[in-house]
Amino acid sequence: MGLKALTGVCHTIGTTFWMYSSKLKSIYFGCIADLDYLYSMKIIDAQIEEYCRTHTQSPDGVLQELERQTYVTRLMPQMLSGALQVSLLQMLVKLLQPKVAVEIGTFTGYSAIAVAQALPADGFLHTIEINEELESMILKYFRKAGVDQKIQLHIGDALDKLKVIEGRFDFAFIDADKENYPNYYEVLVPRMNKGGVIVADNVLWSGKVVENIKPNDRQTQAIDEFNKIVLADERVENVLIPIRDGLNVIRVR
Ligand SMILES: C[S@@+](CC[C@H](N)C(=O)[O-])C[C@H]1O[C@@H](n2cnc3c(N)ncnc32)[C@H](O)[C@@H]1O
Repeated sequence: MGLKALTGVCHTIGTTFWMYSSKLKSIYFGCIADLDYLYSMKIIDAQIEEYCRTHTQSPDGVLQELERQTYVTRLMPQMLSGALQVSLLQMLVKLLQPKVAVEIGTFTGYSAIAVAQALPADGFLHTIEINEELESMILKYFRKAGVDQKIQLHIGDALDKLKVIEGRFDFAFIDADKENYPNYYEVLVPRMNKGGVIVADNVLWSGKVVENIKPNDRQTQAIDEFNKIVLADERVENVLIPIRDGLNVIRVR
């Protein structure tokens, strides 16, 4: 076999292995089993988004380091919210001054740290993550950011953990498995204090919500169902913002 043919065989084996291992890992992570996400449609023009990002004050050095570390060490690093989006979360939290916040979907802790930094001195954040392999990295960065006293990490399935976490919430960030968005919403709304705000990420799902949704595409179906439930719900008022992958900002009346 010539060198060219051998290189071709190695390339095919390598690509096949990469595809299958990535797919399995993404299923394992439980959030985004659809690799289309990697090649997703840009909702906002890239140049405009970059202009917005570079004209918004940057998250602090620890968050910048965590973003770099996430991109270097983790599969699907683009699950991390990103600088512009967490700046918006921080602005909302500073305006709302929530005493108790909850996050569903911690990943490496980027948005959790951002929210905790913006909380008032007596504010507290519960954050829930199903992937126990992320625990040491999350806790390391909570300590590094100096917010470990303001956050409790709950490792496990969010619907189970929400039953264990007691009390009511003033702020909630939903950013986990898309199929459960309607379920998270139904659990959270009755537990929000009046005037409390729920923010849900990825509600445009790379633009798939406006395409013909395939019968087997449970993720897009669930997100579209979630957006429709919110719109029709008289207990809340909402605005769907096309920032990054779409944020639904929902205020409980
Ligand atoms: C998009 S990432 C979260 C990103 C994070 N909020 C940030 O901005 O840095 C979604 C996370 O939700 C977690 N997840 C998926 N299903 C879950 C479930 N049922 N309960 C808790 N966490 C879950 C995934 O393991 C993943 O780490």
